[in-house]
Amino acid sequence: SEITWTQDTVMKSGFPHFMLKEIFEQPDVIHHAIHSITEETLPQSLLNANSIMVVGCGSSYHAGMIFRYLLESACGIPVRLELGSEYKYSAVPFNDVIIGVSQSGETADTLAAIKKGICNNVKTVAVTNVLNSSITRSAHDTLLMHAGPEISVASSKSFIAQVGVLMQVINLLAGGTCTEALSHARQAIEQILITDLSKAVDLCSNAEHLFYVGRGVFYPVMMEGALKMKEISYIHAEAYAAGELKHGPFALLSPQTPVIAVCVPGTAYEVMLGNLKEMKSRGTPLIALGIQDDIDLNDIADILIPVPEAHPWIQVLTTTVLLQLLAYHTADSLGREIDMPRNLAKSVTVE
Ligand code: G6P
Repeated sequence: SEITWTQDTVMKSGFPHFMLKEIFEQPDVIHHAIHSITEETLPQSLLNANSIMVVGCGSSYHAGMIFRYLLESACGIPVRLELGSEYKYSAVPFNDVIIGVSQSGETADTLAAIKKGICNNVKTVAVTNVLNSSITRSAHDTLLMHAGPEISVASSKSFIAQVGVLMQVINLLAGGTCTEALSHARQAIEQILITDLSKAVDLCSNAEHLFYVGRGVFYPVMMEGALKMKEISYIHAEAYAAGELKHGPFALLSPQTPVIAVCVPGTAYEVMLGNLKEMKSRGTPLIALGIQDDIDLNDIADILIPVPEAHPWIQVLTTTVLLQLLAYHTADSLGREIDMPRNLAKSVTVE
């Protein structure tokens, strides 16, 4: 039989959507992102900083939030995080350095934050995917992510690249303590791309509401996971810090609200397990991302998505990718317009 290749299928390299192609590029993308930052290219302003502010929108804000958790714990440098759109209302606006995180380098609110910093003699650093974008022309220094062009409106590889660049910045500021861990990033992502998510996809695609729950650095991972689900499947997905559930969202739990949670060994493990038991007692179906042979977690999870044992930074990357795939396959099973979701734009250049 004859195979017909259109320009579109060639560009997607045989993948049904750009988003899936871009998800599968991530082993290489993370490798290049990490290796693009060296001691020589690290801006002096970051080496001298006693406090850092990060600004971004959408997924880029979530990357900034991961940076905050990891930098504060690795180096003890306080990080302030602001949404680009809210920063303009800040009455006490500055830290030593402002990092603007923006895939496109054109997001109006992030750009405005960089410009506000410059007007006030604050050093600025852009983390972006686009050379010669507006942000690179404004900021004092630029760290390029080298993720390659991203066509899908919902970001996947550019988010991983942002996190990779920011992890390498932290690693260098911390004297290389995580170099060994980061050397496993490419292989770790490659390994989980083939995870069977069919049971979790069935559960999610039949739900109207999903809760994404995490603690510590896995809270922004869950925020990004929920954003992906919202953007491309149109299912209402909300992320919560696990400790906040009792302060309101618990009222919404029912057998009709599946909960997706990360519960991997680490400082938050025991308390997280306790939170999940409380949720289960409300009859909520539970999809847990955790270690495959974790007996306690298997006991309470309806579906366990295995996360390989690894350094926590690597687990940030693997859980992120698993949640991208969960959103992708759920959206696909619902027949959504994955690469161009309704009402959304790749880059938002107005306030
Ligand atoms: C839009 C895109 C998001 C992106 C956000 C920030 O909303 O749809 O995927 O995270 O803008 O974009 P930036 O280019 O600044 O990272």
